[in-house]
Amino acid sequence: MHVDVSGKTIVITGASSGIGETAARQLAAAGAKVCLVARREDELDRVREDIVRAGGMAWSYPADLTDEASLSAVSGRILVEQSRIDVLVNNAAHSIRRPISEALDRLHDYQRTININYLAAVGLTLKLLPRMLEQGEGQVVNISTLSSQVPIPLFSAYLASKAALESFSRSMLAELSDQGIAVSLVYFPMVRTPMSNRTSLYRHMPMMNVDKAAGWIVRAIQTRDARVGSPVGTLGSLALAALPGPVTRLTQPLFRQMDKRLAARLK
Ligand SMILES: NC(=O)c1ccc[n+]([C@@H]2O[C@H](COP(=O)([O-])OP(=O)(O)OC[C@H]3O[C@@H](n4cnc5c(N)ncnc54)[C@H](OP(=O)(O)O)[C@@H]3O)[C@@H](O)[C@H]2O)c1
Repeated sequence: MHVDVSGKTIVITGASSGIGETAARQLAAAGAKVCLVARREDELDRVREDIVRAGGMAWSYPADLTDEASLSAVSGRILVEQSRIDVLVNNAAHSIRRPISEALDRLHDYQRTININYLAAVGLTLKLLPRMLEQGEGQVVNISTLSSQVPIPLFSAYLASKAALESFSRSMLAELSDQGIAVSLVYFPMVRTPMSNRTSLYRHMPMMNVDKAAGWIVRAIQTRDARVGSPVGTLGSLALAALPGPVTRLTQPLFRQMDKRLAARLK
């Protein structure tokens, strides 16, 4: 399948930075009408102005998606101002890298990640889904990570919230695909963005560039595939499902070694 994104109205969260910003630019360059959602209005306006200057169509929708009133207000605005909603890309997220043993008094780590990475995505989907059902077609693209396909240490709060989003996506697919609703999960490897740059240990780690990553979101919309990711991720999830204990015992020392090597390169 190859869907032409030209003329489609695409709501993309986390469009003020990183992969979301770049995906919005790529989609607008291909003729999509992009609705940009994030908290920082000045950054959204910067992206919108660039897109419009380049001949594209974009709207800024500033909102804190972890705030129910803000989420309600912004989804209401989008529904009033946009006659169609073809695609929702739930991309906004927050990542935390911390060992569980250092998070013993930090339940808020888990609350913060679940609020933006899972509940905000579900909240916006529930608001925009009725319009897609009315249209008889639509697509929700949810952004996850390769790290949920292999047993990665130190990201328990982040990965648990992404696992919840994956599970919700599978339920949507099982319930709504016969009503014209496509659901795609995109599993990114490490990508060079403000999110990954926050961890200084990763400064010298080879990563995917942001243009290529944004291209995966465009591909998810063009193909409507249920999963967009890497063969490594697919292999990892198969191995983990079949043999969780042995696979984790095998990879645990490898991740420790990798962290040591990256730390040595920082010195
Ligand atoms: N970078 C990686 O290595 C990597 C790897 C795997 C998966 N991913 C996934 O890829 C997606 C994009 O990540 P990225 O690296 O591009 O991150 P990023 O540059 O940090 O961007 C995160 C975006 O989320 C928005 N956001 C955060 N909290 C929000 C809130 N409460 N309400 C509304 N918007 C909010 C931010 O905008 P404001 O601050 O303006 O609100 C920003 O636009 C995420 O889902 C991430 O989990 C990234």
